[in-house]
Amino acid sequence: MDDVRVGPLDLASRVDEALAVQALAFGLGDEEIEVRRHIVLRHLTNPGARALGATTPTGRLVGFVYGMPNDRSHWWSSVVEPRLRAEGLDGWLDNAFVVTELHVHPDYQKRGIGRELITTLTDRAEQPRSILSAIDTDSPARALYRSLGYRDLVRRVVFPNAASPYAVMGAPLPLLR
Ligand SMILES: CC(C)(COP(=O)(O)OP(=O)(O)OC[C@H]1O[C@@H](n2cnc3c(N)ncnc32)[C@H](O)[C@@H]1OP(=O)(O)O)[C@@H](O)C(=O)NCCC(=O)NCCS
Repeated sequence: MDDVRVGPLDLASRVDEALAVQALAFGLGDEEIEVRRHIVLRHLTNPGARALGATTPTGRLVGFVYGMPNDRSHWWSSVVEPRLRAEGLDGWLDNAFVVTELHVHPDYQKRGIGRELITTLTDRAEQPRSILSAIDTDSPARALYRSLGYRDLVRRVVFPNAASPYAVMGAPLPLLR
């Protein structure tokens, strides 16, 4: 972490670098990268969208996070809403900051960069809570989210076109340290 700095990221202008990191960290094929590119650029038109990057001294992007205040009319929210409502938990969709993506280049993982990216982003949110979705397995991402206070709200949520089911997690802000 010593040589890597977390700070504001102009994600729209560096979307290709960010997706290259995501492709390595998360595993994305060329077609998925192109689809994600359009989605990211559309998300960034949301006035509340904010991004942070982790960069090396030479300016290489090795991690990024972005998110925005939840809007129940957005696609992600409309997919998870029926499942949350069935559990009486859909209040989590109001006044919540959604962490949309968090990825760290494999060569730079396990140095505290992911934790710094998500805590710095959410510390600046005005909302009292944060929600996100993560593949419903025992992954490093899920361990990180749990350690920050996120708990499973609903599990086995199926997003159209996604190969694996997701867990929707929620945490009060500020996140635990
Ligand atoms: C999830 C991810 C962003 C974490 O980034 P990172 O910089 O490696 O995370 P950190 O070094 O800040 O580690 C924070 C915590 O994550 C958890 N964690 C990280 N790597 C882990 C591993 N290999 N196994 C288990 N837990 C792990 C731990 O709880 C760790 O806390 P600790 O160091 O106090 O034990 C990174 O693993 C990644 O990019 N994964 C692939 C993409 C992905 O799944 N993104 C999330 C999509 S929902």
